Amino acid sequence: MPNFSSGCSVFKGCSMSELQSTQLPISLVRPPGYKRKAGNANAVPAQRNATGRPVRVRRIRPLYAPLSLLKRSGLGPLPRCNQILSGIRSYKGQGSKTHACISNDIPYLINAFWRPNAGGSHPIQKGPYHACFSGNLAAFCIERFSPVGGIVHDPCGGRGTTAIQSALMGRIAYSTDINPLSLMMTRPRLRAITTDDIRAKLKTLDLQLKPIEHEDMLVFFHPQTLQQLEAMRRALAQFAPVDDAHPDPIWDWIRMAILFRLTGHTSAYLSRETVQPNAPTPTIAAQRRRNERSGLTAPERDLDEIIIARSKGFLRHGCVPNTHGHKLAVGAAWDTPWIADGTVDLTLTSPPFADVVDYAKDNWVRAWFAGVSLEDVGFSHHKSLTDWTNMVRRILIEQIRVVKPGGYIAIEVGEIRGGQVELERFVWDAAEGLPCKRICVVVNQQAFTKSAHTLGVTNGENGTNSNRIVILQRS
Ligand SMILES: C[S@@+](CC[C@H](N)C(=O)[O-])C[C@H]1O[C@@H](n2cnc3c(N)ncnc32)[C@H](O)[C@@H]1O
Repeated sequence: MPNFSSGCSVFKGCSMSELQSTQLPISLVRPPGYKRKAGNANAVPAQRNATGRPVRVRRIRPLYAPLSLLKRSGLGPLPRCNQILSGIRSYKGQGSKTHACISNDIPYLINAFWRPNAGGSHPIQKGPYHACFSGNLAAFCIERFSPVGGIVHDPCGGRGTTAIQSALMGRIAYSTDINPLSLMMTRPRLRAITTDDIRAKLKTLDLQLKPIEHEDMLVFFHPQTLQQLEAMRRALAQFAPVDDAHPDPIWDWIRMAILFRLTGHTSAYLSRETVQPNAPTPTIAAQRRRNERSGLTAPERDLDEIIIARSKGFLRHGCVPNTHGHKLAVGAAWDTPWIADGTVDLTLTSPPFADVVDYAKDNWVRAWFAGVSLEDVGFSHHKSLTDWTNMVRRILIEQIRVVKPGGYIAIEVGEIRGGQVELERFVWDAAEGLPCKRICVVVNQQAFTKSAHTLGVTNGENGTNSNRIVILQRS
């Protein structure tokens, strides 16, 4: 296995292996014999017709039927798990009490546990990636479900939120994603680095500006900015090629800083105003139309200044501790043969939410800059919820293999299709019959802030509104 001096290893794409279906009995966490109390808050008041006779009114079942959770369950979780859950139940982090209830036989714990956007998380976490979760969410789970020094794996690592938070919190980070950009966005931030290192590298750099090769990209960038970007692409291809498992850490960092600053809506980005950074990147044609409508021209940006500004932002509170043993891979979430059986303490992940995000389309400008093609990457993208559930089950089977007995698997999902589909129910079903205990779903109740909107979190039709984490424990 390759090992970086910085302690970060990379494994190249794993081919899909045939899945073995594991069918073992499972203990369901159910409240025994729960009966609704008469006169409770959800009771429907008696109604009468025009002649004064009572009419039968169909009760609409509330989403969350209140219940004292787990205490009433004869099949309580393991002692350590009990401690964690009682800590979550008594959590008053943001003032309100945790609401415990059971809905459709699934125990829920609901509160404002963490801030849903980047506010409060370490500045090194603040790089935009569509459908990323916040460092606060990762911190909440890592702190509770893994020991210091333990291994935390994210099989759909995205921009690396779990990996970086794990490293910040003294855990060993394993991360897999089928998107090769995930590796490029995560690896540099797992290594110790300073802005002086980056400044020094940029000073020695003599970018060879040439006539513009990719004229179409002028829809996003000022001609001089595009010339600089193209020169930087050539330099990166020479000094930190994408297939080099041990690239120079500073070149690697520079590529990452640019990837996070290519297109966006403020002067902190290299492009003209496009769209919010956590939203899909427009196509050339769409951007051209947008430019024509707005009549604005692309402002000139200085590449070095943007790289330094982004790096300073990331490193405002320092970098991750210089620890060893982190491992990153490019491949499918259900195919991680580089992880030995029963070695991971916590798997924390957020799989693609059905067909909500098209990762290839979303990241096409980044892919262009990095010189990789996302066309043949087999991103999971499922319209059918049955197919999506099967995909989650494949991921669970693999994670159950790598997680230690008694270790945890936390799968973060949300509600999609205008709130009509709560994906945690499908994750719950996907785990049925696997050698793990289905513990509960932790729901973070979000207050929608202006910055949540800016970051592409909307309170409605598209995307998701809440974080729901299905907690499983490996038998
Ligand atoms: C919801 S995002 C995860 C975001 C991540 N939690 C973060 O904070 O950045 C889902 C990720 O799954 C990845 N993905 C899609 N299909 C995959 C597959 N078959 N195997 C592994 N990763 C996949 C996407 O590239 C994307 O990065």
